[in-house]
Amino acid sequence: MRVPSRTLFKNIKQASQKLDKINQSKLESENFHHEYSIRPDTYAFKVDASNEVSKSLTAKTSSESPSADKSHPLQKKEEDYQHFNLIEFIYRYTTNYPFGTKSPQQVFNQYPMTNSEKLGRLKHRPSKCKMLVSDFIEDSLYNPNYGYFSKEVEIFHSDEPFDYNNIRDIDGFMDSWQKAYAKYDEINPKINETKQQFSEIINNSKQEPQSKSKFVQRAKSIQKQDAMVNTGNFNTRKSIQLWHTPTELFQPYYGEAIARYMLVNYKLNGAYPYEDLIIYEMGGGNGTLMCNILNYIKTNQPDVYARTKYKIIEISSQLAEKQLESALNSKLISQGLDATKLEIINKSIFKWNKVIDKPCFFIALEVFDNFAHDLIRYDNTTGEPLEGQVLVDEHGDFYEFFTPQLSYYSNAFLQLREHGEYSILNASNTIAGKFETLKSTVPFVNHDKIHPLLHSSSKLRFKNSLLPFKDNMTPGEFIPTRLLQFFNILKHKFPQHSLISSDFHYLPNAVNGYYNSPVVQTILQDKMVDVSTYMTYQGYFDIMFPTDFGLASDLYKQVTNKVPRVESHREFLEQWANTEVTTTKAGENPMLDFYTNVSFMVS
Ligand SMILES: C[S@@+](CC[C@H](N)C(=O)[O-])C[C@H]1O[C@@H](n2cnc3c(N)ncnc32)[C@H](O)[C@@H]1O
Repeated sequence: MRVPSRTLFKNIKQASQKLDKINQSKLESENFHHEYSIRPDTYAFKVDASNEVSKSLTAKTSSESPSADKSHPLQKKEEDYQHFNLIEFIYRYTTNYPFGTKSPQQVFNQYPMTNSEKLGRLKHRPSKCKMLVSDFIEDSLYNPNYGYFSKEVEIFHSDEPFDYNNIRDIDGFMDSWQKAYAKYDEINPKINETKQQFSEIINNSKQEPQSKSKFVQRAKSIQKQDAMVNTGNFNTRKSIQLWHTPTELFQPYYGEAIARYMLVNYKLNGAYPYEDLIIYEMGGGNGTLMCNILNYIKTNQPDVYARTKYKIIEISSQLAEKQLESALNSKLISQGLDATKLEIINKSIFKWNKVIDKPCFFIALEVFDNFAHDLIRYDNTTGEPLEGQVLVDEHGDFYEFFTPQLSYYSNAFLQLREHGEYSILNASNTIAGKFETLKSTVPFVNHDKIHPLLHSSSKLRFKNSLLPFKDNMTPGEFIPTRLLQFFNILKHKFPQHSLISSDFHYLPNAVNGYYNSPVVQTILQDKMVDVSTYMTYQGYFDIMFPTDFGLASDLYKQVTNKVPRVESHREFLEQWANTEVTTTKAGENPMLDFYTNVSFMVS
């Protein structure tokens, strides 16, 4: 009998073969040519996700899925090689159908479903998986390891309030702003190293022969950007993402306006003198609003100040909870305020699990814009809603798929909208709705402002017969599913809250081709760059959505049974702010005149 020889490492031969294979595939993926001549959303594939459920219940194999064999009109098929047809050949081979001989359903079934919660445990960006559009956006923004918010994001903060009464006019105000901004120009030690790497990339690309092809040039410029991204630190000091929020720009007067609003309503709504003044602020990581509010209350209503509590809910993981707490405590102490009033909860509002049954104010300023959205396209013939998923293939490339299986919040959103004041189906039967449909057939009109269900169905059918890239679906609509989830959290976890929120109702340079689309931007070489898709390299781009306050207030009303009020930034501040102190010598008021695209919603 042959005794197997003992080795320290079992199956060492197979292991080394495996390693070779991994190295080989790594090499292949490094040399892989990404197809940059099509955008990730050039195609929108309609598939069936029912196999997701059946997989776990009955362990059906993916090939058994009902539409697995349904080929795409542009799909290359095996039999093409046997029965050659020139017209079909040209049709199929001049388009960049990305999956070769595989059907969209086969590709979709190939990868498992994941979500942002699971991805939060990963150190690296995922591949070979698919997820809801909202999970893709949430992961890009909030992943603790590579998400946009876990990197260098700062909120612009001026050390001193601006002295408006001694500033000439709006131009003078802009000068003072520019001067306050100068501190962010301090040289970052990484800057020289980064500039060196960047000039190497530029020089190398100059040495390559120039091609006239638009696609080749575009591919090269994207490769160049990729290379910069991959150097890991292409940020110069100004490349740090800076938010210029009204809280910071107009401190302390903006915070004082909110304090004034709260004090009046605290007394009006019957909580005073029976209950303490409890304030929750979501996304208040800088502590500026908190200091401005507490200072105002301390000076004007010391008795209320004595019973005020301030709690900050902040997702940002740049500072650990303890560090954030000590930074904000010293900020309070340096301003002569009582640090024991503060509590910091370092988590996302979406992980909130405690019920606060006392009356409280809930402040959310400029947080809604980064709430992830889901994406819906409607079947152009039946109007059936289909929900978007982003598939990340083995090379890290992204594709958009749509399934009729709706997630909980997408379904809830569509139901609430259709049962509320902003029903699209009702609108489609009105004269205004029919006018929108007519407008959708007129060239050179911005069709992105027209709801997808109001687009002319025959126009879309004709377009699809010529260019079957979107499987006869309407343009996409981004729907505010996280905002709806937030309203649910307010209802169940803060049942006695009064909401004070503000955000952008309009954002310029939004992504084209969708309804209610976001602005996707990053800073590249000190310049703000807007890009044309939300499916971008995760973590490097801010993805911001405008808020439709009419619809948001209707949802809020239906979910919480409270009636909110929507006002413009100017209307709110004219009522509650000290507008004299913020007026320049020429009589202009930057605090009222700026942010014309911002609204308040209060309850
Ligand atoms: C644009 S800043 C606005 C900061 C501040 N409210 C202001 O107006 O100056 C958005 C803030 O919200 C925080 N944030 C975003 N999503 C959040 C979430 N889901 N839960 C808690 N905080 C969040 C971010 O970390 C960031 O501090």
